Amino acid sequence: MPAAAPTPEIMAAFEGAKGFMPTHEGLALYAAAVEAGGLGLPLLEVGTYCGRSAVLLADAARRAGVTALTVDHHRGSEEQQPGWEYHDPETVDPELGVMDTLPTFRRTLNRAGLEEHVVALVGRSPQVASVWGSPLGLVFIDGGHTDEHAGADYEGWARHVADGGLLVIHDVFPDPADEFTGQAPYRVYLRALASGAFTEDSVTDSLRVLRRTGTGI
Ligand SMILES: C[S@@+](CC[C@H](N)C(=O)[O-])C[C@H]1O[C@@H](n2cnc3c(N)ncnc32)[C@H](O)[C@@H]1O
Repeated sequence: MPAAAPTPEIMAAFEGAKGFMPTHEGLALYAAAVEAGGLGLPLLEVGTYCGRSAVLLADAARRAGVTALTVDHHRGSEEQQPGWEYHDPETVDPELGVMDTLPTFRRTLNRAGLEEHVVALVGRSPQVASVWGSPLGLVFIDGGHTDEHAGADYEGWARHVADGGLLVIHDVFPDPADEFTGQAPYRVYLRALASGAFTEDSVTDSLRVLRRTGTGI
């Protein structure tokens, strides 16, 4: 069966959104999300930014009749701060002088007609995870790229992936020459495989899709 693909309208919304998800990896994420939606459980993303990948998760959730959840404090990762390579001055709140990607995210979702399929969880990922208690069909880790943040995302959220559900990790670079924001996501990926709880399902460049085939994390 061919992988599920978004409509041209959803592709246009995705490609028009600010963010860090290349199209071919986005299509792999979308196919995984549609499949995981079949479990009838929410799909959760860590790392909303301006909603680029969230458009795909939201549309996959809509198709499956489930809800997409997306977690971010909206203050940006280390490499997105002023003076760093991935900084976008348009994401700075002019009154506070700090990054705030929430308004852009809300515009992205509104323009895509997907607001009602998404719940935005605004806060620090470990803090949100600490009050979360129910199973998820898919967890997509695309938050902070330090060992501290990526490791905490894994520990906080991977435990909630339901049996047969998917754990998707972005920016997995086995070769240090290829990485651009560090190899922490690669180390999380290795840890997930070594746990015996997850088995690799697909590889699309730096996007890895793992399936829960065992218990624990
Ligand atoms: C690489 S961007 C996400 C890109 C997005 N998925 C896309 O498709 O464009 C990472 C995001 O993670 C957020 N972030 C980093 N560390 C976080 C943490 N500990 N808790 C919540 N959000 C965090 C940042 O604010 C940033 O918006």
